[in-house]
Amino acid sequence: MFDADPIPPHGGKLVDLVADADAAEDLRTEARNLPRIVLGERELSDLELLSVGALSPLTGFQGEEDYRSVLETMHLADGLAWAIPVVLSVGDEELKRIGGADAVALAAAPDADPLAVLRIAEVFDRDPRAEARTVYRTEDEEHPGVAAVYAAGTRCVAGPVEAIALPPHDDFVEHRLTPRQTREEFRRRGWRTIVGFQTRNPIHRAHEYIQKCALEIVDGLLVHPLMGATKADDVPPDVRMRCYEALFAGYYPKDRAMVAVFPAAMRYAGPREAIWHAICRKNYGCTHFIVGRDHAGVGNYYGTYEAQEIFDEFGPEELGITPLKFEHSFWCNACEGMASPKTCPHGEETRVSLSGTKVREMLRRGERPPREFSRPEVADILIEAMRATAEA
Ligand code: ADX
Ligand code: MG
Repeated sequence: MFDADPIPPHGGKLVDLVADADAAEDLRTEARNLPRIVLGERELSDLELLSVGALSPLTGFQGEEDYRSVLETMHLADGLAWAIPVVLSVGDEELKRIGGADAVALAAAPDADPLAVLRIAEVFDRDPRAEARTVYRTEDEEHPGVAAVYAAGTRCVAGPVEAIALPPHDDFVEHRLTPRQTREEFRRRGWRTIVGFQTRNPIHRAHEYIQKCALEIVDGLLVHPLMGATKADDVPPDVRMRCYEALFAGYYPKDRAMVAVFPAAMRYAGPREAIWHAICRKNYGCTHFIVGRDHAGVGNYYGTYEAQEIFDEFGPEELGITPLKFEHSFWCNACEGMASPKTCPHGEETRVSLSGTKVREMLRRGERPPREFSRPEVADILIEAMRATAEA
């Protein structure tokens, strides 16, 4: 069915773990008599990604062999490229309740309808220190991704998942497209080459610039904001979505660009996460993927271009999707346009560069950052959101 697609999913086949109506009814009945694991926000995101095939070829939470292999080699045990482990931690209490059961029900809350049945293939211990060192390149517990690993239990339950339903959402419903649906939409629009853009931020001029540079050489642009868990000081999803919609209304060609939700949680794993983000976007049907400065980075844990360099550790056929690498972009007053060190010969003093902290301060004071940094429509949405938070 996907033969005509611009790019095959990772591993060759698009996974779909959601049962049809009859099978779902059987699973629901079965789940009633199974011990239950209540998933946290991050695991719930992983379950959703698994269910819709965003993590193809994974069909469940990973076991020890794949886990170790991913940590040590950035490949699954069968040799396929894979950069971030996808495991399900359980507390000691939960494990006791599971006892000798060979399946568990996964749910979002103790009294919520079960979302999936996991057939337990194995229970194993993850290695938080080794995971921190290899995946995050630091053991520092101040790192938000590392902190999340340390906070999770070490015991993991692994095995294939059969989904009853997708986790329910009442926000951005029209933008929640599964990989099957984005692929269908690309086909409908006649796009053969599509560039994916990961973001966890409002779109500023630099983001817009690199997206549009990329769009000059492909058929279509998928702006694919990550809408799962982020750190507390990142801009909340609803505010970001208003920014994306304002920009799309005013500055993006409707037949060449679209926005859809990437329902993942942020790891802040920099280089490793860039690889993982690219593989996921390939599953959504993207042929190209933008990697700019400090992709998926946080603090000073990663070098500015480490997330680009890591792509050289894979053969081009291993990932399939083509990374489009962009240097740190800015407005240059001398060039009178957006530029990067690659295209602009002028010095620091002509560049409109503002730190995130500086921008936040301005917005909090109700001041628009220069329009060379952020479109006024976006600035106004952010100012209004800051005002609302301050008053709450
Ligand atoms: S994140 O997931 O990488 O943390 P973020 O929203 O900060 O999301 O960035 C989205 C994408 O734009 C990433 O590929 C990042 O490298 C790139 N990017 C952000 N700012 C710039 C910039 N000023 N110049 C070039 N690339 C940038
Ligand atoms: Mg960033």
